Parts: sequence; structure tokens; C-alpha cells
Amino acid sequence: MSNSTLSLFVRVTKKTQEAEDIVSFELADPHGRPLPAFSAGAHVDVRIKDGLVRQYSLCNHPEERDRYRIAVLREPASRGGSTGMHDDVQEGDLLQISAPKNHFPLEPSPRTLLFAGGIGVTPILCMAERLAHTHAHFEMHYCARSRDRMAFVDRIQQSDYAEHVHFYHDDQPEAGNLDVASLVAEPDKDTHIYVCGPSGFIDHVLSTCKAQGWPASQLHTEYFTGAVQDSEDDESFEVKIASSGASFTVPKDKTVYEVLSENGVEIMVSCEQGVCGTCLTRVLEGEPDHRDLYLDDEEHAANDQFTPCCSRAKSKTLVLDL
Ligand code: FES
Repeated sequence: MSNSTLSLFVRVTKKTQEAEDIVSFELADPHGRPLPAFSAGAHVDVRIKDGLVRQYSLCNHPEERDRYRIAVLREPASRGGSTGMHDDVQEGDLLQISAPKNHFPLEPSPRTLLFAGGIGVTPILCMAERLAHTHAHFEMHYCARSRDRMAFVDRIQQSDYAEHVHFYHDDQPEAGNLDVASLVAEPDKDTHIYVCGPSGFIDHVLSTCKAQGWPASQLHTEYFTGAVQDSEDDESFEVKIASSGASFTVPKDKTVYEVLSENGVEIMVSCEQGVCGTCLTRVLEGEPDHRDLYLDDEEHAANDQFTPCCSRAKSKTLVLDL
């Protein structure tokens, strides 16, 4: 991602602990001007530190122009982004962000079914507020591991759409488990389904819908934590830069992107999770081990490009068009 897309400076006006390991940040124009408008499902890119940009969904009411609100999950195992927001960003700080972008928009439809897992509640909450505001017919199902890890429960329970929202967490077994199969048992051409959360949660909801006969055109998702999976079986391999002939070893515990940037070979990254495609790089020789969600099956099979933020190699060497 070009840094030129990070065209806005905003001030952190409020930092709130919303739940265990989840902090929200309110962002406003430093001069009090209105912020660019956004629609439900939109996100902004946020520069965390040099070279590291993360994407966070906006979770305030999409009619608001005086602030953006994002919520960030602390992930100790991540490569610094989320932890950095929790520990390093304080009220009063300035942040560089992009204008809102929406890859997860609401389609106009008579009925809407929303599924949120954990921190995936952020765009779903924004959708619920938009749907409630327009008096649309919707239901929201919100799951988390425990009540303590569930953000925005009070806000939802105090809202005028609270009766449309169902909560599921392990501390409250009497509320029952989320039974996706029965909720989507009858495909309905007038209903669109939206799901956001950890990839396992998304996969479960989508595969259940597909098994019940829902067409893909009525299913919508946005991955929060990409498909990146570190495997204990990962092995080291070589990457070679075609233009210079330089060769570097990628050890099992580092990504190609990390090794290249340590050696002064710059690749732009954004999500670092195989979701956005920012880091896409052409492969001239060798076979990548694709671990992204950005390319489709056909593009993976072509093996002529890969995402160095998360993908690895099946061959001993990859020659990159850099
Ligand atoms: S940085 Fe997003 S796919 Fe690699």
C-alpha cells in the first residue's frame, strides 16, 4: 500500500477498555472538521509504526461525521500491530489513517441476518445500527468465548434494537449455543447474510449456509485474521532477487517479507495476513506454498505470483521478480 493513501491525520480523543483484551479508540479531526463520510462495513487503514499498516473496521454509527471509532483486539502473538495499538497509542496522540474504504457493504434487501464472532463484531455492529436506523428487518447473532471478552454488550443492550440481538458465550450455557444450521435452514431469496470474526467462525457459518443451499451471491464476509497459519512443519528456503542475483535464507520462523526488509529489499505490506494483496509479488521460478486468501484457486495454481507477507515455498528456492 502506498503511504499516500494514508491521507488523514486524526487525534485519539478517547481510549476505552471495552472488554478483556479489546480497546476502542475514538478518532477525530484535530481541527474539529467533519471526517469523510463512511458506510456500514467500512474500514480505515491505520499506520501503527513505520511500514506497518493495519485495517480496522469502523464501529460507530455511519451517520456520524465528528468521529471514527475502531476496536482493537490484543494479540500477543501478532507481529506488533495490535499490541502496539494497545500499549503505544494514548489519548491525545495523532494517527495517520486512510479515508474509509468499504469492501463489505450492505446490499439492499428485505431481510438481513448478521453473524459476529469476537472482535468481528465491529463491522457487524455498524451494520446493525444502520439497519435499525432505517427500520429494516434484521437479526444479529453475536458469539464470544466469554462475557468478559465481549465488547459493546452494554451499548447493544441499551439500544433500541436490543431485541434483534442474540448473545452466545460459554459462561451462559443456558442461553444455548449458536445453531447456525437451524437459523439458515431455509434459503430465502430476500435475505442476505453477513459474517465477520475469526476465520474458523466465518468458515463454519459460510459452509453451513452453502450446505443448506444458500447462493454465494447472498453471503458476505470480511476476514479479520487472515488464513495465515504457521506450521510446525515449516522449513527454511531461499529467495533470490532476479534483478540483483542476491539470495537470502528464509528461516522457519520468519516470513519472506521480514527477511527481505531486514536486507533492505522493500515490499509494501498492509494486512500482513494474506488478505489485501498489497504485497503481491511475481514469481519467476520455483513453487510457492500459498497461504493467502487474496488469490483464487486458479491464480494459486498458476504459481506466477505470491504474497510474501505470509506465503512460503514448496521448492528449495523462489526467484522473485524484484
Ligand atoms: S500484505 Fe496483505 S496480502 Fe500481504
